[in-house]
Amino acid sequence: MLRSALLNVMIKAAHKASRALKRDFGEVEQLQISVKGPASFVTAADRRAEETLRAELEHARPGYSFLGEEGGLHEGTDKTHCWIVDPLDGTLNFLHGIPHFAISIALEREGTIIAGIVYNPVSDDLFTAERGKGAFLNDRRLRVAARRELSQAVVACALPHPSRGDVILTRNEHAAVQQKVAGLRRFGAAALDLAWVAAGRLDAYWEHGLSPWDIAAGVALVREAGGFVTDLHGREIELKSSGILAANAAIHADMLALLSEVRCQMTEV
Ligand code: IPD
Ligand code: CA
Ligand code: CA
Repeated sequence: MLRSALLNVMIKAAHKASRALKRDFGEVEQLQISVKGPASFVTAADRRAEETLRAELEHARPGYSFLGEEGGLHEGTDKTHCWIVDPLDGTLNFLHGIPHFAISIALEREGTIIAGIVYNPVSDDLFTAERGKGAFLNDRRLRVAARRELSQAVVACALPHPSRGDVILTRNEHAAVQQKVAGLRRFGAAALDLAWVAAGRLDAYWEHGLSPWDIAAGVALVREAGGFVTDLHGREIELKSSGILAANAAIHADMLALLSEVRCQMTEV
């Protein structure tokens, strides 16, 4: 498949970082049985992956800014372009030897995300999207699912730790959605949740309190696969938005209504 120079740069960086991540994941699987556990080892793997990605991307596109989860913002001389990177999305899965995690890389140009890739090194699933050029899983063009009924939908959500989110609100949302859909899932890697909406595996996904590196690449994927992405009030998603809802058009409207109803009921009580 012929890909643009930009996507090739992003893919090359992801492949390079993924080689060490995969080795580290193998190590983590061994460390599960040790009492100390793999936590500090994983933090080091995460940082190393970000350093590799930054070095590769900066080498290919000197001057671009770089925003990474681990190292924060490094401002470049080119103020119009910024890489937005999560070197390891799904850290808790990785830490527990669960092979569901990804590298997420997006490129923002003057406030617009123009390309995104999400790569799971274990399954070798490579999701790519470029503005106006479609979304792909490896060589296959992606479209969001065509299902129109909530009752047939499989929907992904989050289960935030109580220290990180509004537990009551999330529980109420879960209860309301669970009653209406065919299946509710929690996979634990936001970038892959979005990629799976783009691939039509999931019909919808919502979550509160995410960061730009969790969603930047996934938003590009969903849009280019013909899906809808907004914040939880139905407004256009921004990287600083505190919540996200992604789905196909019909399911998006129903999910938005359902989640708004939950919030209304809570304010009435
Ligand atoms: C987390 C994952 C998880 C989501 C959390 C994120 P991390 O990212 O995407 O699915 O529920 O909100 O922070 O910490 O594994 O990079
Ligand atoms: Ca993340
Ligand atoms: Ca991360």
